[in-house]
Amino acid sequence: MAGVFVTRRLVGDALDALAAEHDVDVWTGELPPEPAELRARAAGADGLLCLLTERVDAALLDACPRLRVIANYAVGTDNVDLAECRRRGVAVGCTPDVLTDATADLALALILAVARRLPEAARAVRDGEWRTWEATRWLGAGLAGRRLLVVGPGRIGRAVARRAEGFGMTVAFAGRGDDLVARLREADVVSLHAPLTHATRGLIDAAALAALPPGALLVNTARGALIDQDALLDALRSGRLAGAGLDVTDPEPLPAGHPLLDEPNVLVLPHVGSATHEAREAMTRLCVENLRAGLAGEPLPYPG
Ligand code: DGY
Repeated sequence: MAGVFVTRRLVGDALDALAAEHDVDVWTGELPPEPAELRARAAGADGLLCLLTERVDAALLDACPRLRVIANYAVGTDNVDLAECRRRGVAVGCTPDVLTDATADLALALILAVARRLPEAARAVRDGEWRTWEATRWLGAGLAGRRLLVVGPGRIGRAVARRAEGFGMTVAFAGRGDDLVARLREADVVSLHAPLTHATRGLIDAAALAALPPGALLVNTARGALIDQDALLDALRSGRLAGAGLDVTDPEPLPAGHPLLDEPNVLVLPHVGSATHEAREAMTRLCVENLRAGLAGEPLPYPG
């Protein structure tokens, strides 16, 4: 029987099945364990199931000498030092495919929300500022005929493209090696789906935003650090950007009073791209499959 530490309560019953075979210890706090708590609690574990809120670095790996497998409860693995895990022979798994539809749906929800200025309109209703049907206020942009640029042509990016085509948008992609600035010049709406790496950190910086046509929209359901948030604020204030839909920010959450939270046509969400019942249950299942395989010394079915 191996020991598995799980850093949060999860959706579904897959963990119960794992607990029938292994010694499973679940962190029940609403907030993630602090790094020192994580090191102490996972010290004797053979397997670790962690969330994107946990940093898996050399210090943690040093503290957990028995660790053989890490199941990351996310498709992104930027919270895990993959090179360090490889060097130590610790297998790393993630949860691909099962959150593609959920995340793509949310990207479209954000595109629609900022295209139609829903953050401003909803605030006006909430604040009692809306008095009558208005012919001239809260006018937004229709999606039909608009040009969507999907940055990161992976599974989720392609799923967003299919949905956007259903709304009559024309879609272009920008991937590794493409001239991003040239593609941005031709985009009315930009949706980010690239992984966070050294190469993509700050990808959407002041120069990238300046390349957009005035009044463009930006949506991010990938990782907050893809965007230079100071440059984003400048672009919103100058009107270069007409709105932004951010499921992810850097840090998460943004501190209270952060200026992005006050921008009129900005919708900031609490990183809910994969937050459907179906997706989150499936993520638990995939993590358990990864753990089972790793603990049995087999290749992981969903490697990271
Ligand atoms: C991921 O999977 O990487 C998401 O950001 C959380 O589901």
